[in-house]
Amino acid sequence: MGERRFNHILRCINCGRTFDPEEVLYTCSHCGDLLTVEYRELDLGDIDERWRGRPISVWRYREILPILDSTKPVTLSEGGTGLHACDRLGKLVGLKELYVKNEGENPTGSFKDRGMTVGVTKAVELGMRYVACASTGNTAASLSAYAARAGIRCIILIPAGKVALGKLVQSVAHGAKVIQIRGNFDQALKIVRELCSKEKIYLLNSVNPYRLEGQKTLAFELRDQLYPNPPENVVVPVGNAGNISAIWKGFCELKALGLIEETPRMLGVQAKGAAPIAHAVKEGLDEIEPVAKPETVATAIRIGAPVNWKKALRAVRDSGGTVEVVSDEEILEAQRLLARSEGIFVEPASASSIAGLKKFVASGIVKRDERTVCVTTGHGLKDPQVILDNFPSPTVVDATFESVREAIESSYMAILPA
Ligand code: F0G
Repeated sequence: MGERRFNHILRCINCGRTFDPEEVLYTCSHCGDLLTVEYRELDLGDIDERWRGRPISVWRYREILPILDSTKPVTLSEGGTGLHACDRLGKLVGLKELYVKNEGENPTGSFKDRGMTVGVTKAVELGMRYVACASTGNTAASLSAYAARAGIRCIILIPAGKVALGKLVQSVAHGAKVIQIRGNFDQALKIVRELCSKEKIYLLNSVNPYRLEGQKTLAFELRDQLYPNPPENVVVPVGNAGNISAIWKGFCELKALGLIEETPRMLGVQAKGAAPIAHAVKEGLDEIEPVAKPETVATAIRIGAPVNWKKALRAVRDSGGTVEVVSDEEILEAQRLLARSEGIFVEPASASSIAGLKKFVASGIVKRDERTVCVTTGHGLKDPQVILDNFPSPTVVDATFESVREAIESSYMAILPA
């Protein structure tokens, strides 16, 4: 290792003890809580000038990623996703300036790729030959792809029968060892954490602080894409709660760097059957009460015991935000609304940010004039079954001109109000 000088240390979010980044470590060896990456210095000169010369992507922000200069990134061109001004949808929900940051445009179709490009690069830097995760589907799809890209082996644990088809086939296609457990995500995560603590396998769930460093770049991109007017509200679907924590960390670093003056409010959204963080926020609790049997149509966020709850509660409270709960019906309605009003097709978990936004506007938490970004986390093609189950099936007719014409005239066409 010799000359290697890391630009960061690891700090425990509970007791504050610091650790050297040379060793493989996910939690504090003293109190067991999660770790966070802390940079040795954030006085980086005119960093903005350097960033502007590079394409918008995760690696544009390399100076504040925890990877050695000498390490070659494992990349599939992640980040740089579209920030779409959604005027029609904005009008429908009652906002003047609404944007959708569509993370489904990442290489494997979800925001997880931001985390995995950094996390798998770290695995390679540490000399690991095996990586693993538990997943509701997207983390697995992403890790499987990045492991293949790095030429290392991948083990994934998923809840049997509860992973959307598109995600499952991604992991299979990339050659991961896919193990379906008769249990839920929370149980799978417990097992994989034990596995990685006993074997030389690198854990890439969001307990891994390096993965979250990749995900924080969403905040950097929002600042750059909206420059010079950063967002006032950022709405994020919440499952295991890594993403909302990571995005908030990104905004805090931008502020520390002097690149933004105000940080936005972080507004989380959880599905009704899996909402322990929303419950804690609404009740003013300091800890979450895990949900033993989480259930929702948004299988990506079907999580009852989010590991990053403590980081997420801090993100929400420190930013002046809150967390809302949405029903399955509201999620499916929001999915349809976004697809039909703006041409953006997202999976149910992602649509929860739109469903949540409607409630934030209705309750006055988000005001008409506030610049608001909804993060849509995964592509609609991930879960084709949910569409077949909940939307009308396309008509089948005889192969004649008359039958087609009749079908056009008799069937309802989903045209939105002008
Ligand atoms: N949206 C989608 C599409 C997801 O796949 C996830 C998480 C989330 C939102 C929530 O993000 O966990 O950081 O709060 N999916 C994980 C997985 C759990 O295994 O793919 P979070």
